[in-house]
Formats: sequence, structure tokens, C-alpha cells
Amino acid sequence: MDKIIILDYGSQYTQLIARRIREQHVYSEIVPFTITADKVREIAPKGVILSGGPNSVFEEGAPGIDHAIFELGIPILGVCYGMQLMSQELGGKVQPGERREYGKTEMTVVPGNELFKGLPDSFVVWMSHGDRVSAIPAGFKVSATSANCPYAAIRHEEKRFFGIQFHPEVVHTEHGKQILSNFVFLVCGAKADWQLTTWIDDTVAKLKAQIEDDEVVLGLSGGVDSSVAAVLLHKAIGPRLHCIFVDNGLLRYREAEQVEEMFGKNLGLDLTVARAAGKFYEALKGLSEPEAKRKAIGKMFIDVFADEARRFKHCRFLGQGTIYPDVIESSHAVKGPSQTIKSHHNVGGLPPDLKFELCEPLRDLFKDEVRAVGRVLGMASELLDRQPFPGPGLGVRVIGEVTKEKVELLQQADLRVQEEMKKLLSSTSTSTSTSDFNSLWQTFAVLLPVKTVGVMGDQRTYEYTCAIRSVNSIDAMTADWTHLPYETLAAMSSRIINEVRGINRVVYDISSKPPATIEWE
Ligand code: XMP
Repeated sequence: MDKIIILDYGSQYTQLIARRIREQHVYSEIVPFTITADKVREIAPKGVILSGGPNSVFEEGAPGIDHAIFELGIPILGVCYGMQLMSQELGGKVQPGERREYGKTEMTVVPGNELFKGLPDSFVVWMSHGDRVSAIPAGFKVSATSANCPYAAIRHEEKRFFGIQFHPEVVHTEHGKQILSNFVFLVCGAKADWQLTTWIDDTVAKLKAQIEDDEVVLGLSGGVDSSVAAVLLHKAIGPRLHCIFVDNGLLRYREAEQVEEMFGKNLGLDLTVARAAGKFYEALKGLSEPEAKRKAIGKMFIDVFADEARRFKHCRFLGQGTIYPDVIESSHAVKGPSQTIKSHHNVGGLPPDLKFELCEPLRDLFKDEVRAVGRVLGMASELLDRQPFPGPGLGVRVIGEVTKEKVELLQQADLRVQEEMKKLLSSTSTSTSTSDFNSLWQTFAVLLPVKTVGVMGDQRTYEYTCAIRSVNSIDAMTADWTHLPYETLAAMSSRIINEVRGINRVVYDISSKPPATIEWE
């Protein structure tokens, strides 16, 4: 299989480059910038891309490159920081920028460059840089210019080295996909041989070889990743896969039953359901501070999971639905220290008596690829297209102290929100343009610890307030509140107030992230 590797210099868009290439059916992988030329030779990629990054090549300790990579005879594309680094390494000059160039700019192409083959003479590209190349290395030619950037693109014809100051991977760059495609196919000569069906067959064969006659225990959450991992592992080793599902009492309405039905009954997986709601409510008693609640839920999860997993101590492997973005986020050294806004949890940190080896069949895939694998494996779309659900579940959507009663109230309110959303999304006659819903990320209910006065019939009521949250987002890093049609909001509100005893007021959350976050806690 032909490969393109991307050296990661820490840009928030590095993953997008990999995705754009995989979308063209060429396998691409992100590697740390510290990779040695020997290792690159061993991987034998058809091409190398140097990503963008937040640093300046002038900074002390700025990320570099094993210079011998330039001598391997492999085509290289430097993007933004990658271009500046390549220029500096090969004898050109980089100049600190007096001002940052950020946003869209018109670029004019010098004819005769393979990278821009089939594209207009000038088009809009997206820039985000402070420093810029001020003198290009010997043997390089200018291949595009913009008003602020005399070297918007450069190339060395014989060596097949290309540099672009703009970001082809972001949607704001016109023809960005074509530029990457030209690099991958015209410059590198890669074959489009990355197919998910082949990937599934290869992965099942690899899992069989890795696991041999041993067994695997896997924490099934009912979310997309762990579910697809479970089905894939089941295909490889059948009854030697043992799934554990922790019912923490913080799930959505009937979710635990649905997981049991789907995986235990329909798919025939060996499934243990740990019914632990009481333990979680007990652990949450008296806690209202969000981080304290998250930590308590995380710790209890590990305890319950470990207790069940001990029955499978004889298993050699712990299966996990780790996906590619998780791997990159946790492993690459270039990312600076970032503040913990909310502590997320997964099945890390098992007690020392549980010594499993990890088995992570999805660690090369992006989320959309995981969904596509699930589809090929025949999994139901209600499961694959589910919205993200936080590990601590409704524990962070019941604001303040969590009790069983409040969770049940929220489950009922949320059920009505989901039903009305389903109606909206399936109706073709919605008054709002459907494009508003293309990037719909999540819609859910939140129970506030606020009681207010209402009137029902002739009776005074004093009951809880429910907030509805709906956001549009691409990656959950930023989000906008969804402009839901008034009719949908009205239906949600009247159904919750009329049908859920205990809630007499519904409000709609119109905050964007940042500065708000998607979940309330
Ligand atoms: P925030 O609230 O940080 O949420 O804007 C961003 C996205 O992450 C989800 N989320 C979680 N997912 N474990 C998870 O697996 C967690 O602890 C967790 N907390 C938030 C949230 O639903 C949103 O999609």
C-alpha cells in the first residue's frame, strides 16, 4: 500500500491534511517531527509532507528535522512552517514578519507547476503566518506570489521539493483538495489503493495473528468507537471476546437496555452488564462542583470495571476503541501544555493487578472512517450516527448535585428533545435551510438546579427548569448555537412542560463555544 507521511509540527490542521489525503484513497499517517531519516526510509513513503506549526524557526528549540530526510530522494511538500523550515535547512532565508498575515488572500500562479496543474491563474488561499521566506534556497523557483508574500509557493524541480506558505487543507483555500491531490498523484505517483473493505480484511487477519488463542476483554460504552471495535474483534475472535458494559445510572432513557439488546441478543456478543447505578449515585452524594463530580464518576467507573474485569484476568488483552485523533493528541511532543478545562476519562489507570496488553484495532482511523467501517460491518445507522455523549453522561447534565430522581427527570425531558429533533430532521418541509443542520453536532437537555414558580390549571407549581442545548460544530473545539426553528423549540418546550412532571420552565441556551463550552459542566 502506498503511503504519504506527514511530519507534525503542531498545527491544529495537521490531522486535516491526513484526512484530505485519505479521502483520495491514499493511506497517510502523521509522525512526530523527530522521526529519523532511517525510519522514513524503512516506512518508504511515496511522499513526505511537513505540516504547519505555531513556532517560529527563530525560536530557541524550535522543532527541526533530520536533515538526511532531504537526501532520501522522496518528494517533499512543506506547508507554512514546513516551508519555512525547509527553506532554512536548504540554505534560504526566513525573515521575522513585521505583521501577521491571517485570512484569505488572492494568489497568482507562475505557470508550469505540477502542484497547480488544472487550476486557474489566480485563486484565493488561506494564510496564517508571521515569519516568511525572504530568500529561497539555490535551485528553487517561485511558483506563486501574493500581495504580501513574494514566495507564496516555491519548488525545486529536480528534487521534487515544494513549499507553500498557505494551508491547502482548510476549506477556505480554493482548490486545496486538488493541490494535495496533485502532490500525491502527479508528484509522488501514489496509487489510490486505500480502501476500507481491504482495511477490514487486513485488520481482522492482523487481530487473529496478534491475539492467537488468547482472549480479549473490552469496555463497551455503547458509543460509536467501542461498538465498532467490539464488532470488529468479534469478527476476528468470536466468543473469545468478552465485553463489559457499565450501567452507571447516568445514561439516556432506555440506553442500557438498548445496548444489551443490540450487542447481547442481536449480535450475540458475550456481554456482561455491570448494574452499578446505586454505587454511582452514592459516590455523587453531596457533590456539586463539576470537577469533583467528574473525578468521582471516573474513579467509580474504574472500580466497577476493574471488579468485573478481574473475572477475566486470564485474558491477555484489553480491547479499546482508541481512534487516531486520541493517539495523536496524547503522543506528540510538539503540543504545548494546555490547561485542563474538563477532565475526560477513559479506561486508563486500571489497578496494578490487572496487567493487560492493549489491543486497539481502530487506532489508525478517523471518526468518519470508523463510522464507514461500522457500515461495512452491517451495523445499524442509529448506532453509528449517534451524537457524541460524554463519558460522565447525565452526571454533567444534571447541574449541581445528582440524584436518581433528577436523572430520571432529565431522561424524560431529553427523550422529548430527541424525538422532536428526529421529527425536524426527517421533515422535508422545514422552514429553515437544511444547511443549518449539516454541521449539527449535538442536541440535548440539561436540568438546572433552579426551581421557579409556575401555574398549572389553578394550581401554583414550584418546579425545576430545563435548558435545551443544540450546537453546530465540526470538531467540538468551537461551536455555535443552532438556529433551531421556533416550531421545534415550541414543541420541545410544550411537550416537556406538559408531559414531564417536575419541570415547569424550559429555556434555550444561545451561547457559543468559546467562551461557553458545549456541556454545562
Ligand atoms: P465541551 O463541553 O468540552 O465538550 O465543549 C466538547 C465535546 O466533548 C464531549 N465531552 C466528553 N466526551 N468524555 C467524553 O468522551 C467526557 O468526559 C466529555 N466531556 C465532554 C461533549 O459532549 C462535546 O461533544
